[in-house]
Amino acid sequence: MLILFNSLSIHIQNALEKAFPEAAAQAHASGKALDPQLVPASKPEFGDFQVNGALKLAKPLKQSPRIIALAITDQLKADQDFLNICNPPEIAGPGFINLKVKAECLIAEIRNQLQDKRLGVPVIDSSNDQMASSTVVVDFSSPNIAKEMHVGHLRSTIIGDSIARILEFRGHKVLRLNHVGDWGTQFGMLISHLKTVAPEALITADVIELGDLVNFYKQAKQRFDEDIHFQTTSREEVIKLQNGDSKTLKAWKLICEQSRREFQQIYNRLDVRLSERGESFYNPFLEQVIDDLNDSNLLVIDDGAKCVFLQGINGKDGRPLPMIIQKQDGGFNYATTDLAAIKYRFNTSPEGDGAHRLIYVTDAGQANHFAGVFQIAKRANWIPDGGRIEHVPFGLVQGSDGKKLKTRSGKTIRLRDLLDEAIDRSEADLRRRLKEEDRTENDDFIKHVASTVGIAAVKYADLSQNRITNYQFSFDRMLSLQGNTAPYLLYALVRIAGIARKGGDLDTATDNLIFKEGQEWSLIRTLLKFDEVVVEVEEELLPNRLCTYLFELSQIFNRFYDQVPVLKANEPYRSCRLALCRLTANTLNLGMNLLGIPTLERM
Ligand code: ARG
Repeated sequence: MLILFNSLSIHIQNALEKAFPEAAAQAHASGKALDPQLVPASKPEFGDFQVNGALKLAKPLKQSPRIIALAITDQLKADQDFLNICNPPEIAGPGFINLKVKAECLIAEIRNQLQDKRLGVPVIDSSNDQMASSTVVVDFSSPNIAKEMHVGHLRSTIIGDSIARILEFRGHKVLRLNHVGDWGTQFGMLISHLKTVAPEALITADVIELGDLVNFYKQAKQRFDEDIHFQTTSREEVIKLQNGDSKTLKAWKLICEQSRREFQQIYNRLDVRLSERGESFYNPFLEQVIDDLNDSNLLVIDDGAKCVFLQGINGKDGRPLPMIIQKQDGGFNYATTDLAAIKYRFNTSPEGDGAHRLIYVTDAGQANHFAGVFQIAKRANWIPDGGRIEHVPFGLVQGSDGKKLKTRSGKTIRLRDLLDEAIDRSEADLRRRLKEEDRTENDDFIKHVASTVGIAAVKYADLSQNRITNYQFSFDRMLSLQGNTAPYLLYALVRIAGIARKGGDLDTATDNLIFKEGQEWSLIRTLLKFDEVVVEVEEELLPNRLCTYLFELSQIFNRFYDQVPVLKANEPYRSCRLALCRLTANTLNLGMNLLGIPTLERM
C-alpha cells in the first residue's frame, strides 16, 4: 500500500480528486468518480508518479480509457495549482497518466529538507486526533526468567526496538514493555529443587550464575516429570508463591534478579530500553478475567477446565478449539495472563495504560496463541472503538544448514557469545583491511569500530529481512562490505564524512540550488521519499522497508559520488552537490537511528 505523504503528493492527490469528478461529469456520469490511484512511477523515465484510475473509470462511463484519460489531463492542464507542481501530464499506453514533478518543486523540497531535522516526517497531530495521541504498547523481547535468552528473543528485541523508535519519532507515547515470563509452575519446581541442591541461592543474592540457574531449571523439570513427591512439593511452592508467602517470595525475587541482570547486559550492549512488567504483574487481575468472561457468557466448563471455544479456529478433529483459561487444578495459563494484560493495557482508568494500539513482537510460532487471545478480547468487548491490537510475527533464525541455529557442538547459542563473535570477526576484518590499505590506527579506534560494526551488523541482518520469513544467520554475509548490509550503509556515511574531512564544507548555505546531472536528480528523488517510507513503516510495522530504502539511497549516493565530481566541481555546482551529500548523510543517520543502529564517521 502506498501512503502518499510528502507534501508534493498531497497537492497532486488534491488536484486529481478535483479533476476526476469533473472529467466524469463531462462524460455525463457525475458521482461516478473513482479513486485516481496515484502511485509512484514504475520506471524513472516515466516521471515521478503514475495515475491508473482512468482505466477503472472506462467501464462505468462506457468510454475508452484513453478518452477518459484525455478528459482528466485536460482538467489538469487547466489547473494552475497543479501546473505549479507538475509538467503538463502525458498519457501512456491504454490510458495511464504519467506525471513529472517540476524541477523547481523538487529543489524547493530539498531546500526544506536541508533545514528540517525531521526530514519532512510530520509529528502526529494530537490536537486533531485524540486516539492517535494516546499510548501505544510495544510488547517485545520478553524472555523467560531462569532460562537463557535465545536468538528468537534477540530478534524480538531488535525488531521491537525499531518499531518503538519509529512510533516515538512520530510523536506517539510508547510503552516499551518487557513481558518477561516470571510466574507460574516453573518457579515451584525451581524453588523446591534449589531447596535441596543450592539452598543459599534462595536467601542470598549472587550465589549462582544464570548459566547455573538454567541448568538447575532443567534438572528441576526432569525431577518434576519423574518424581510424584517432587510434583507435590513443587505445586505447594507455587501456591505459597501465589499466596505471597514471604520466604518463597524472597527466593523468587532473588532468582528473577539474577536473570534480570543478565538480560540487562544484553540490552545495554544493544542500546535497547525496556520497562519490565512481567507476567507476575497481572496475577492480581486473573480472577477478574474469569468473572468477566463468565459475565459475557463466553466461559464453558470442559473436562473440569474453564475454557472459551474459539470461533473459526478449529482443532485437528475439525471442532472449534478451546482456549483454556483456568485449569482443572485452579491454575492459570499463559493465555490468561495475556487476557489480563490486554484489559489492563486498554483500560483508561488509573488501573490501566489507556493505550489505543497494542503491538506484540514474537516468533510466528505464537500466531495461534495471539489469534485466540485477541479473538476472546474482542468478543469480551475489551477493545475500545478504534483500538488496534496486532501480532508482529517473525520467522525462525536458522544456521547456514537451514536448521535451528546451534553452536558447532550442537548447543543453543548464548546471545552474549553471539555478540562477542560478531565483534571479534568484525575486528579481524578491520585489521585485515587496515593492513591492505596500509593504515595504522590505535587500539581504541579499532575496538570502537569493531564493536559498532559488529552490533550494527547483527541488528541490520535481523531488520533487513522481511521479518515473516525465516532467516539464515551468517556472520560472513552480515559483516560483508558488499550488498544489503550494515557495513555497506555505514561505509556510505563514512565516505560523506570523508568529503568533509577533505575540505568540503557540508554546511555551506545554499540558497540557490542548481542541478544538471541525471545522477543528481535520481539522488534528489530518492532523498525525497524518506518521509513516506517512515510513515509506511509506522503503519505496516515492517522495518525491512526502511532498510531497503536506506540501501537504495546508499547505492544511488555511491553512483552519484563515483560519477559526478563534487570537491573538484566549479561553483555553484560544488556547493549544491555538497548540500546533497549533507542531506544524504542526514537521511542515513536518521534512518539508521530509527532502526537502532549505531553509526560512525570513520571505519
Ligand atoms: N515469554 C514469551 C516467550 O519467551 C514471550 C512473551 C510475549 N508477550 C506476550 N504478551 N505474550 O515466548
